[in-house]
Amino acid sequence: MSPRPFVSLLLIFFLRAASADGRSTNIIHETCKKCAREDPNVSYKFCVASLESNPYSHCADLRGLGLISVKLLRHNVTRTRSYTEKLLKSEEMDPSVRACLEDCLELYSDAVPTLAEAIRAYKDERYEDTNINLSSVMNAPTTCEDGFSEKGAGSPLAKRNKDSFQLSAVALSIVTMLSRSSH
Ligand SMILES: *[C@@H]1O[C@H](CO)[C@@H](O)[C@H](O)[C@H]1NC(C)=O
Ligand SMILES: *[C@@H]1O[C@H](CO)[C@@H](O)[C@H](O)[C@H]1NC(C)=O
Ligand SMILES: *[C@@H]1O[C@H](CO)[C@@H](O)[C@H](O)[C@H]1NC(C)=O
Repeated sequence: MSPRPFVSLLLIFFLRAASADGRSTNIIHETCKKCAREDPNVSYKFCVASLESNPYSHCADLRGLGLISVKLLRHNVTRTRSYTEKLLKSEEMDPSVRACLEDCLELYSDAVPTLAEAIRAYKDERYEDTNINLSSVMNAPTTCEDGFSEKGAGSPLAKRNKDSFQLSAVALSIVTMLSRSSH
């Protein structure tokens, strides 16, 4: 028996895998390029790195990428909430830092149910509601970080606040694109 049919089958398999991969890389890059161009709060590099971190991005369309970005944000917010809680339990801390962290805990705690509403609205294609809920989530890292700056205290949540802000911006930007194309 000739090995040729097998070899061509393998070749077809690899070509298809390669083109599927090329397509998904493209939609991530194209989407992030558009987001960064339209929204100064979005960093192209951050956008690509976060979306690519999710294995499902590789076969997603714009709507799928939007949901992935909101879920990445939920993961971030949930983890920052529990991290803040843990920090507050460690006893030694400047009282002004403690007060700021308590505010942040409240902000991040409120953001969790708001994100659940954002996801529900997104799944129903109610993009305006999604936008309202995401904008309110985006305020959490900003307000949290402002608290530390006002007291002239170093923020132990700086990196996390920046990430949550960036992810909110990516999600908001994708939702804006979708709401435009659905009209
Ligand atoms: C960018 O972030 C700032 C600060 O939070 C906000 O006021 C502004 O509305 C954001 N821009 C967009 C296009 O979302
Ligand atoms: C938040 O999301 C960013 C981008 O996806 C990621 O790099 C970072 O590790 C996440 N942080 C947490 C605490 O989950
Ligand atoms: C989410 O948005 C909807 C629609 O604007 C609003 O009625 C609701 O109060 C928001 N939810 C939260 C938790 O902010």
